[in-house]
Amino acid sequence: MTPAVSIRDLYKTYDSGFQALKGVNLDIFPGEIFALLGPNGAGKSTLIGAICGLVRPSSGSIAIDGQPLPQHYREARVKIGLVPQDLVSQGFESVWSAVRFSRGLFGKAPDAALLERLLRELSLWDKREASTLELSGGMRRRVMIAKALAHEPTILFLDEPSAGVDIELRMDMWAMVRRLRDRGVTIVLTTHYLEEAEQMADRIGVISDGQLRLVENKAAMIRRLGRRRVHISLTYPLAIIPTAFSSQHASLDENGRELIIEIGGEQSNIEHILNHLSAAKIRFTDLRTSESSLEDIFINILRSTQ
Ligand SMILES: Nc1ncnc2c1ncn2[C@@H]1O[C@H](COP(=O)(O)OP(=O)(O)O)[C@@H](O)[C@H]1O
Ligand SMILES: [Mg+2]
Repeated sequence: MTPAVSIRDLYKTYDSGFQALKGVNLDIFPGEIFALLGPNGAGKSTLIGAICGLVRPSSGSIAIDGQPLPQHYREARVKIGLVPQDLVSQGFESVWSAVRFSRGLFGKAPDAALLERLLRELSLWDKREASTLELSGGMRRRVMIAKALAHEPTILFLDEPSAGVDIELRMDMWAMVRRLRDRGVTIVLTTHYLEEAEQMADRIGVISDGQLRLVENKAAMIRRLGRRRVHISLTYPLAIIPTAFSSQHASLDENGRELIIEIGGEQSNIEHILNHLSAAKIRFTDLRTSESSLEDIFINILRSTQ
């Protein structure tokens, strides 16, 4: 399958001498939701900017649907919808004409029915006659999404879609992204919110300091790097970790009241643990399991690769 976006050995050094991208290799496939996850300053917007033709790479190559940039920039740009991180200042024009104009910019024939559906999906239909200037920040962001989608792009870039956005818009946006994906649109979003990556993405790329640290299917990432723990509330406190568990990753809380045992991803190990507890005559009042969140995983990745 030809990747929707293919990036090879991409470097970007800004005029200041700052190296924002240090050899990025990445393929994004048609129809997937790809989340580029990383802290502020990691290089996410620079990478998106390079793909969308706003940032000139220092070296390396980018291809859209197999066609290399910058030679095929015009064809690529028509396929791409971009919702930038910052709210760009907008004119006096109405929401309707802003969106219609955006579509025309890419040489697409007018399609009032399509634009009406788009505005309705983004709860903007009632505001179609309003000037974009009189809208709230959240509404303006909806307009930016509508403008990015007006020419029916097949690849949508959302740069920090949740930054400064209220929960209602966030939910609407997530629903919209899923609908677009169902229609076959490839979606690339950047975020430093783990929740967003966890909720939305099929695959996650972790970026820090201009380098992609890891690219993996979300479920596989959680399976591989996730940890399950069994927390055992002891009837009588223990001073040391019982020998039966010394070969496992086990720990005691500071009062010796809770024994915590790592069980990797294997549920069946719990039976083992219960047998050991019973053999060692260790009594307990309660038992629960916990799982590491994507957040723990993320912190571990950044720690281990820096
Ligand atoms: N035009 C620029 N000139 C110099 N440095 C820049 C410029 N744009 C971004 N940077 C720097 O490059 C790094 C990556 O920025 P950016 O791609 O915006 O990160 P992110 O989107 O992950 O927060 C940051 O340290 C930022 O300060
Ligand atoms: Mg950014």
